[in-house]
Amino acid sequence: MSKTLIIALLTSIMIVTTAFGGSLDKSEDSKLLMLVNSEHMVDKDFDPDRVQFEDTYYYLREEAADALDRMLNDMEKDLGEAPMIISTYRSYEKQETLYNTNVDGAVAAGAGIADAIEATGRYIALPGASEHHTALAVDLSNDGSVEENFIETEAGVWLSEHCHEYGFIVRYPKEKEKYTGIGYEPWHIRYVGEPHSDIMYQNNWCLEEYIEYLKEDGSIIWKDGENIWGVYYVDSLECSYANIVDFSETNCGGYIVTTCRNRNSLLGKAQTLKGHTELMDKLISRIAA
Ligand code: DAL
Ligand code: ZN
Repeated sequence: MSKTLIIALLTSIMIVTTAFGGSLDKSEDSKLLMLVNSEHMVDKDFDPDRVQFEDTYYYLREEAADALDRMLNDMEKDLGEAPMIISTYRSYEKQETLYNTNVDGAVAAGAGIADAIEATGRYIALPGASEHHTALAVDLSNDGSVEENFIETEAGVWLSEHCHEYGFIVRYPKEKEKYTGIGYEPWHIRYVGEPHSDIMYQNNWCLEEYIEYLKEDGSIIWKDGENIWGVYYVDSLECSYANIVDFSETNCGGYIVTTCRNRNSLLGKAQTLKGHTELMDKLISRIAA
């Protein structure tokens, strides 16, 4: 086989997808990786697509609703009982009411206004800064309360160990307040999809740290049992990649493009060339590893 042909075949099955000229269609921006916090807020009239979660009065992005349904079913199987949903999508107005009610309550209980605002802001985001507004966040509870000791319950432990398998992250982890601006909330999960939830879980990154890493490094290649994923940070949509499964604005400047190749099909293609070159054999070991 000629060297040129080998290189062409190698290129066609390379794990790392290659950028080429072109533009992504903005209407397909999933917004699944939006960063929403006090520094990166959303507009008052931001109105995400959402569906009713089963026969409840809770609303979520369809991807998050499907993942939550699977996750709660598995929690019920594992624990005998799944926790209850206590909050999902919240409009700007609803967040504003929640925030003001909390500040007013603290003042009524004797706090000064500055202390009341500070204490409220640790657990309740300003309107426009809450990711409940994105319809991607869910609060879960055993008994209707939201307390840090949720993590001492079976449901809290299960969630912290397994929610990433369903595309969720515990959005406000302990020790990450300096990045998130929010105190520890073991009950609040946020849908980001796979492989992002796995990458953040394995690296112990919150969303702020993950996006910062991608901004600085540009990309991550991530392998799981089935797939080889590429995650790329780009400044504009004037680019395209092969095998894109998602792209999302970050709400803090650029976009994150996600690509996915099935390991078995890559391996199958590479196997047909096994033994032709040392390079091809190395590539096969990398795919299989
Ligand atoms: N509890 C979270 C921070 C919110 O209010 O969105
Ligand atoms: Zn929440």
